[in-house]
Parts: sequence; structure tokens; C-alpha cells
Amino acid sequence: MSATARKTAPLPDDIRAMKGGTPIVSLTAYTTPMAQMMDAHCDFVLVGDSLGMVLHGLPSTLGVTMEMMVMHGQAVARGLSSAMMVIDMPFGSYEEGPEQAFRNAARLMAETGAGAVKLEGGVAMADTIAFLVARGIPVMAHVGLTPQSINTLGGYKVQGRGDAGAALKADAEAVAAAGAFAVVLEKVPETLANTITEALDIPTIGIGASAGCDGQILVVDDMLGLFTAFKAKFVKRYAELGKDGEAAIAAYAEDVRARRFPGPEHVFADTVPGAKT
Ligand code: KIV
Repeated sequence: MSATARKTAPLPDDIRAMKGGTPIVSLTAYTTPMAQMMDAHCDFVLVGDSLGMVLHGLPSTLGVTMEMMVMHGQAVARGLSSAMMVIDMPFGSYEEGPEQAFRNAARLMAETGAGAVKLEGGVAMADTIAFLVARGIPVMAHVGLTPQSINTLGGYKVQGRGDAGAALKADAEAVAAAGAFAVVLEKVPETLANTITEALDIPTIGIGASAGCDGQILVVDDMLGLFTAFKAKFVKRYAELGKDGEAAIAAYAEDVRARRFPGPEHVFADTVPGAKT
């Protein structure tokens, strides 16, 4: 299925059916204009809780609230017509148990129109995923580096090297068996990502994983060069909008101080030439 040929947004089952085919394309979005820009090019768009860091200047994703996710989810929904929208469940909104997860997932879907939720965790989240899926909530899982757990993972480290690979594979298998329709693999060694991709019957979506995954995702502010606090190895910058934006703002400031802006074309005459009085 090509994103450009599609007339209506895909469903989670359509994404699942893309397993092993043309790679699934996705990016994060947090605002209407960004969503509009990527709608025709992405199979799904993730309202990621990375918005806490790249938009709100938080030090991690841990401070992101349900209210922030709802507000940005509604903004993204206004910009999408052909890509599916997936929304992240923020830290603390699902870990207590399946009922809490259902309450908050249902709210995110009802108030934003998202087609699915994403939550972090493997074996430990399998029961919760099964509970949600059985009650009509499609779930995208997220294993490997799960940023909401940086305090127990010891930072933003590559996950699953050496002996840890078996546990990570078990996490991916557990979420697939629980009914997740796809799984994000973040910061996982390439060979392990390939092994997991071959072992699962649901698509793997890589970020810092492997070109062999069934799809790829990046944080849009990273790939456009808008978030410049740091650049992870797995980020490819396709533009330098942060630098270009700062140069444009500096040019504007110079123009204003030199009275070059506004120019004659930006101001209004007392009368409209040719208008009847
Ligand atoms: O929050 C986010 O942007 C994510 C992606 C990095 C997968 O979870």
C-alpha cells in the first residue's frame, strides 16, 4: 500500500498487513501544520510523548501529562486526512493496571480521534495490552529503549546487547502474543532487530534499530533540525530548520532596527488607487 495512493486513513489491521512489504513510514507530529506536511507521506503519524522534550523543553518525557497529550492529539488530528494517528500514553497513565490503562486509553481515543494508542513495556505490559485489545483499543507496543524508564534503564543506552538480547526478544514476543498490532524497537542492535523482525508476525517499527525492520519512525523535530539540544546517532537530519529559522529571525531583527522592514509593499495607503469614493 502506498501512502500517496490511499484515500482513507489506514486501520491498525492495514498497518499489520504491511508486515514484510514496502517499509512502513512514520514520523511524530504535535501540531496541525506539521501533521498537514506529513499526511500524504506517512502511513501513520505518532503523537509522541517526545513532545515534552522537543516542544515544551522538559528534561525527559516523564513530566508529560494526559492533558498535554489530548491537546496535541486534537491539533494533529485536525491536520490528518490520510495517515493513521497513533497517540502515546504518557508516563503514569497505564502502569498501575489494565483498568487504569483502559480509562486513559479510551479518553485519548475519544477526545482526539486517534486510531490506536502506544505504550512502553514488554512482558510486564502484556496483560494490559491484552485487556485493551479485547476491549476495542488497538495497541502499538514499544520495547528496547523505553524513555519513560530511563531512571531504571540507566539512561538512554542501547538495549539488548549480549545476554540482554534474549530478554528483549521475549519482550517483543510477549507484546505480539498479547495482541499488539505493531511494535516499536528503539535503540536495539541491528542483528537483534533483524532477528526480532523475522520472529514476529506483526510489523517492527525501528528507531535506532535496523533498515531490516518493517518500518521506520523518527521524531520530526530531530530530522528537520528543529531540536538541537543533542543529536542521537540514529537521527538523520534531512533539513536544518533550526539554523535557517535563527538566521531568518536575525535578518528580521536587523531589518527592523535599520527601518528596512516594513517596506512599501507591506504598508497601507490612505486611499485605494482607483477606488470610487
Ligand atoms: O515519543 C516518541 O516520539 C516516541 C518515538 C521516539 C517512537 O515514542
